[in-house]
Amino acid sequence: MDQIVRFDKVSKKFQLFWEDVVIFEEVNLDISRNELVLLYGPSGSGKTTLLNLLTGLLLPDEGEIQVAGLYIDLIPEKEKSDFRSNYFGLVFQENNLVSTLTVKENIILFQELCGYETEGKEEKIDLLLEKLGINHRKDSFPAQLSGGEKKRVAIARALSNDPHILILDEPTGNLDRESANELCSMIEELFLTTDITIIVASHDQKMEEIATLVYRVGEKQVKLEEEHNERRKGEEIEYRPIDSLERGRENMIMEEELTDFEE
Ligand SMILES: Nc1ncnc2c1ncn2[C@@H]1O[C@H](COP(=O)(O)OP(=O)(O)OP(=O)(O)O)[C@@H](O)[C@H]1O
Ligand SMILES: [Mg+2]
Repeated sequence: MDQIVRFDKVSKKFQLFWEDVVIFEEVNLDISRNELVLLYGPSGSGKTTLLNLLTGLLLPDEGEIQVAGLYIDLIPEKEKSDFRSNYFGLVFQENNLVSTLTVKENIILFQELCGYETEGKEEKIDLLLEKLGINHRKDSFPAQLSGGEKKRVAIARALSNDPHILILDEPTGNLDRESANELCSMIEELFLTTDITIIVASHDQKMEEIATLVYRVGEKQVKLEEEHNERRKGEEIEYRPIDSLERGRENMIMEEELTDFEE
């Protein structure tokens, strides 16, 4: 069973002063492993809210959310951060890099905070930085990097923990067209050469071209873009062999965790 994310009739509202603002109304969403999923929608449509629901940072008012067969609302609060660091690599709209640490130190700190213990951690960081084209910047501080480079560092950091799902919130938002295109190509390359599921919130047209699955977010709903998805299904997507970024086997999703989806 390849499903990794499921939303079942999820509703979410925020309270703004004395008024309820409904963001989602009975939203259904299905994401399989090994997809490059785009959540496409205008500013304010709820993309970040959807990612926060998916990662358990927000709870739905109604409905259920499953990640790899786990019901998020059943995860005790104190285990939530372990759940997040085990399953997700998160890249927020702001990159949240520590300004007083170098690129490499930022990643090491993150791994330590997550309790990530694997042999060859340092080599892995070098490999990641190389793959993302910023190894020559590993001793630089964030302020010395361009916007595109900072985003790559944030992505390398998110990947350094061997996530199942990489979440990117508006990765090209603050970049010029050229850097945005380069970043899109890098994300596509990452997708084609690893077994990571990637979920991107964006309103970048270029991102739409590389996504294998597009959901349109807006008007309290999340709808599959049938036309896009049919077109991509008909294409031969050339996955290349998984390289050294392959997730550690010990962290692979256990088959039994996925059986909850089978009805
Ligand atoms: N904690 C909150 N309390 C009240 N309203 C909120 C809260 N968080 C988000 N909202 C509102 O929910 C709506 C959706 O916000 P969200 O940040 O998810 O949109 P978005 O699609 O990510 O936008 P952008 O493309 O600008 O990042 C907005 O109208 C926002 O003002
Ligand atoms: Mg947002």
